[in-house]
Amino acid sequence: QKKICNSSFSVLAAFCVLTRGDVFTHTVVTCDDLNNVDHIGCDTGVIIVHSALYGRTDSKTCSEGKAPQLLANTKCSQRGTLDVLKKRCDGKRVCELNTNVVRTSDPCPGIYKYLEVNYTCFTATRRVICENSQTYLQCDEGEVLIVYTANYGRRDHYTCSYQKPDIQIKNTNCLNPTSKIGESCNGKNSCTIKASNSVFGDPCVGTYKYLELVYKCQCK
Ligand SMILES: *[C@@H]1O[C@H](CO)[C@@H](O)[C@H](O)[C@H]1NC(C)=O
Repeated sequence: QKKICNSSFSVLAAFCVLTRGDVFTHTVVTCDDLNNVDHIGCDTGVIIVHSALYGRTDSKTCSEGKAPQLLANTKCSQRGTLDVLKKRCDGKRVCELNTNVVRTSDPCPGIYKYLEVNYTCFTATRRVICENSQTYLQCDEGEVLIVYTANYGRRDHYTCSYQKPDIQIKNTNCLNPTSKIGESCNGKNSCTIKASNSVFGDPCVGTYKYLELVYKCQCK
């Protein structure tokens, strides 16, 4: 639907504010099993992770068939879990999860743990700009850009892979969130963006990268 921004009528201004709130929150819990692979995803919009726990904070979650001593510690939480998930999943439509990916330490040995993720689906625009390409973001009159996430690197095999040798696309762990786009584009009606090492530095030498961008145009 089209937003109406450049109007002095207060009823239309109110309409514009209402259409901003297209936000849905979801919770996904994955029990700590070697072969458990879970997904978080959005029907519309993109994932923004806003809280995450790897550990155990109650004795009920993921408790079926487990001995009580495995559930005894309910104050167990790994540091840095949110950061790992944000780097991996923010801005994607679907994100594959497994506790192996998230585990960077054992916060409570001998306790059966789980991963709990709260995320929101933002109805925002997702753009991918392959390395050395340039793009122009443009909002309608009366609207300005707001950038939610930007990553210059590589998080999967298939994006920006056309005619690229495997050696240049095999590193899918090149996570490099950047605030540069937001700093130069937020609040502007339009913005030119170049995906290149000269702008962002080179987070993974030898890998062909891309800039992933999640943004929205909103009323001034
Ligand atoms: C996720 O959201 C629920 C409901 O608001 C909350 O009870 C829970 O503590 C949240 N989980 C984390 C890991 O913050």
